Amino acid sequence: MTKLIGLSGSLRQGSFNAALLRAAAAAMPPGAELTVGSIRGIPLYDGDVEAAEGIPEPVATLKQAIIAADGLLLVTPEYNNSIPGVFKNAIDWLSRPPADIKHVFGGRPVALMGASNGRFGTILSQNGWLPVLRTLRADLWSGSRLLVTQAEKAFDEQGRLVDDKIREQLERFLEGFVGFVRRQRETGTSEPTGSTGRSTAPTGPR
Ligand code: FNR
Repeated sequence: MTKLIGLSGSLRQGSFNAALLRAAAAAMPPGAELTVGSIRGIPLYDGDVEAAEGIPEPVATLKQAIIAADGLLLVTPEYNNSIPGVFKNAIDWLSRPPADIKHVFGGRPVALMGASNGRFGTILSQNGWLPVLRTLRADLWSGSRLLVTQAEKAFDEQGRLVDDKIREQLERFLEGFVGFVRRQRETGTSEPTGSTGRSTAPTGPR
C-alpha cells in the first residue's frame, strides 16, 4: 500500500482546498491511500516558545504522521498572489528543529495542488512554494498541475466536487503522483527517514 498524507492550507469550515483534499482522498488509485491531515491547532511560530517548551504537540504529531507516509500532498490556497501565512507557518513549525528536516521533508515526494475562486487557480501560490520545498530538500513532483479555478462552481454547498472534468484531472494527477512515489521507493532515491544523501555540502536552513 502506498500511503500519502495531505494537508489543506485553509482552516475555513467551507474551505475549497479542504474539499479538494477530501475529493483527492476519495479518488486515489488502487493500492494507494491518502490520509487527511490537519494544520489546525498549530500555534504561530515563536522562537521563545520553542526554546522554553519545545515543539508543540500538534506539530510533533503531524511530523510523525508525515514521516510515516510515503508522500506529502499540499493543497494550497492563494492569498495575495502567494502562500497563505497560516499554511507557511505550519510548514515552518514542521521544519523545526533543523536536524529533523531531513526526516520530515528530505527526499520526500511532495505534490502541490490548489483551489481558488479566481481565474488562475493558485498558480502563484504553488509557485511560491517552490523555494520553500527546495530549501527543505523535498522531492517535488512536477509531472502535472492541478489548478482549480472558480472553485465555487466546482464544489456544491456540502463541499462535494461536482465538476467531472476536474475529477478526471484529479484522478490523473493522483495516478501520476502515486507512480512517482512508487518509483522513488523502488529505486531508493527517496530518503524519507535517512540522511539527505547529498554529496555536496548542505546549504539548507539554520
Ligand atoms: C484571497 N483570495 C485569492 N484568490 C486568488 O485566486 N488569488 C489571490 O491572490 C487571492 N488573495 C486572497 C487574499 C486573502 C487574504 C483572502 C482571504 C482570499 C480568494 C481565495 O481564493 C478564496 O478566499 C478561497 O476560497 C480561499 O481558499 P479556501 O479557504 O476556500 O480553501
